[in-house]
Amino acid sequence: MAFAQDTLTAIAEQGEHFGDAQAGSGNVPIDMSSPNIAKPMSMGHLRSTVIGNSLAKILTKVGYTPIKINYLGDWGTQFGKLIVAYKKWGSEADVKADPIKHLLEYYVRFHAEAETQPELDDEARAWFKKLEDGDAEATKLWEWFRGESLKEFKRIYDVLGVDFDSYNGEAFMNDKMDPVIRELQDKHLLKESQGAEIVDLDAYGMNPALIRKSDGATLYMTRDLAAAIYRHDHYDFTQSLYVVGMEQKEHFAQLKAVLLEMGHEWANDIHHIPFGLITANGKKLSTRKGNVILLDKVLQEAVDLAKAQIAAKHPDLENQDEVAQAVGVGAVVFHDLKSERKDSFDFNLEEVVRFEGETGPYVQYTTPGPTVF
Ligand code: ARG
Repeated sequence: MAFAQDTLTAIAEQGEHFGDAQAGSGNVPIDMSSPNIAKPMSMGHLRSTVIGNSLAKILTKVGYTPIKINYLGDWGTQFGKLIVAYKKWGSEADVKADPIKHLLEYYVRFHAEAETQPELDDEARAWFKKLEDGDAEATKLWEWFRGESLKEFKRIYDVLGVDFDSYNGEAFMNDKMDPVIRELQDKHLLKESQGAEIVDLDAYGMNPALIRKSDGATLYMTRDLAAAIYRHDHYDFTQSLYVVGMEQKEHFAQLKAVLLEMGHEWANDIHHIPFGLITANGKKLSTRKGNVILLDKVLQEAVDLAKAQIAAKHPDLENQDEVAQAVGVGAVVFHDLKSERKDSFDFNLEEVVRFEGETGPYVQYTTPGPTVF
């Protein structure tokens, strides 16, 4: 942890002028946070949010113009599943009362029931196809799920003090995929494989990139291709960053490879900024199985822990609630940034909100004035 200590000392000594050197200029889109609609924001999305936000601050400081893009996961076959689940087991009142909780319940139930009833998967595929074809009922449900989820996400971003320049997510790419598929066809890059259309990446030693399923449905990769091209055309970037978990390493390597195959040399300016996995009690988290750490809850518990410690140690402090809020949230953010980016770590809230050692509360305590991470 020597590095963190040195950096902190340097920042404390140089204060506002730390890193004033002008290193570059130009637009740098940062794909960050990017949670999935109808699912809770995870600790992984927190990592992406705070790392992305810090990168944006550093880039600004050294002369670049960061563009913080929240590439919402608001499209894909999971919406077919969600529509089927909602129509079978959902309640409008429940979704209105606590959207993410109930939408997640439907999603988890879908996966559990589909194990014994595979026909549910066919229904889900059909509903996603309807959504892609602009069907009115499917679109209405999708818009509703999206709006309710986004409200919840924005509440969390307010707590974290993070904002975005764009919320253009996967769905925004809907009308931008056809030209990409046409370009791939024109350049003879699309191949058929078991009815699906792929780009062969053997030459790169990678698995093929899946562009279109046999039923014509597009994929995560198809949308990311359109998004990369859109960002290049729209922002004329010097670098394009993607702050996304290590587990998507191959996806971003494929994305770059396909763009290079298309002759887009600028793909060399695309950088995946990976980070390690957060586990709970040594176990990997999985939304599908409902095994998630809810970020919302973590932040609340961190504030509660801070409050208890303040009450015990500084019972005379006047604005205890306000301080607990800053200390609790700051502790979670600081802990995330302090950990070596590519390392995985087990999340232990008690350790995160400790008042002694290399923790957010300690840094806030030793630095004069309000410290915002
Ligand atoms: N929504 C995705 C997830 O939660 C992350 C998206 C990352 N960005 C991207 N351009 N693929 O896993």
